[in-house]
Amino acid sequence: MAKIVNSWNDWDPLKRVIVGRCDNSMIPPEEPATSEKVPVDSEMRGMWGLRPLATVERGNECLENLVKAVEDRGVVVDRPTPLQWNQAIGTPDFRNDSMMTCMPPRDILLTIGNEIMASANSFRCRYFEYLAYWPLMKQYFDEDPEFKWTQAPRPRLTDASYKHNYYDEKITLEERLVRTANKDFVTTEVEPMWDAADVMRMGKDLFIQHGLTTNRTAMEWFQRYYPELRVHAMNFPGDPYPIHIDATFVPLRPGLIINNPHRHPAEGQLAIFEANDWEVVDAAQPAHDEPPALCYSSVWLSMNCLVLDPKTVIVEASEVHQQEQMDKLGMNVVPVDLRDAYPFGGGLHCSTADVYREGGCEDYFP
Ligand code: ARG
Repeated sequence: MAKIVNSWNDWDPLKRVIVGRCDNSMIPPEEPATSEKVPVDSEMRGMWGLRPLATVERGNECLENLVKAVEDRGVVVDRPTPLQWNQAIGTPDFRNDSMMTCMPPRDILLTIGNEIMASANSFRCRYFEYLAYWPLMKQYFDEDPEFKWTQAPRPRLTDASYKHNYYDEKITLEERLVRTANKDFVTTEVEPMWDAADVMRMGKDLFIQHGLTTNRTAMEWFQRYYPELRVHAMNFPGDPYPIHIDATFVPLRPGLIINNPHRHPAEGQLAIFEANDWEVVDAAQPAHDEPPALCYSSVWLSMNCLVLDPKTVIVEASEVHQQEQMDKLGMNVVPVDLRDAYPFGGGLHCSTADVYREGGCEDYFP
């Protein structure tokens, strides 16, 4: 029996990875947590249903580009099993008219060492998304005797989990920024809620973005679950929609992070990096002024790269400025055409989940 699951950070040499699939993807109906995610002026407001088939096929083509690029470099690729996401769902606590997709895996699965944990997402439409990964989890469980197959405590997601007056009025961008600065988010603290993509793993340290999808109770939960690790909350007051840390604060190798120039960490939160001589540089400008059609994310998916090892990084093929910056930072750049997968929830890092990277649990902040 082999060791299949092991990963402690986002830069050690990648050997095995999960890449999502766009099949049957939905634009989910509005619900307390997601209306927050859709900007008021977005073409997607009030719209829901199956995504157009041509866009699904094109998104899948892009994911195949990524699969090929990593396989060419000797990485083993696993794929989820999509469900019929247009089914209505219900639990004793809530009902929703549909699910969403199994993109991107990074939001659902968190790999820490030999453990992969399904997250405690705050969106009702994502409540059953983990099922798409269960066949893989069973396979890892059968083949790797050390693999820990875990599900984080499932949030109830009753109405008490959300602030219901949070977005009722048409609030302006400035007001949103004030709320972010005040750490006032749509989720309440009645239970731990977190998306795996809010957790940045750096060996002994977990840096977790506190924002629209992950609350403070989750940080407390993480600290008790992993007493041997150190949990740090991060806030980015410049982000009016703080969801997922991987288009904001992205490590390339030990000692080097690229940071979204509009989203610097809140006061005091850089201290630990500075004290340990880490370099935090502003990321290059995105090549595009707008995200592609029907996309939830911002143009900053430009920096949502997939590090293959401390010297090699995959960057989206059209993001020429980001590629140039990576090159100057001493990274070999592998361009992959993935932009038409952005509408399904994210870029190169989002579209994947780590299964195996070489290396162990290091202390980068002694
Ligand atoms: N909130 C980010 C932005 O729009 C997008 C992050 C997407 N990441 C992910 N893991 N789904 O800039």
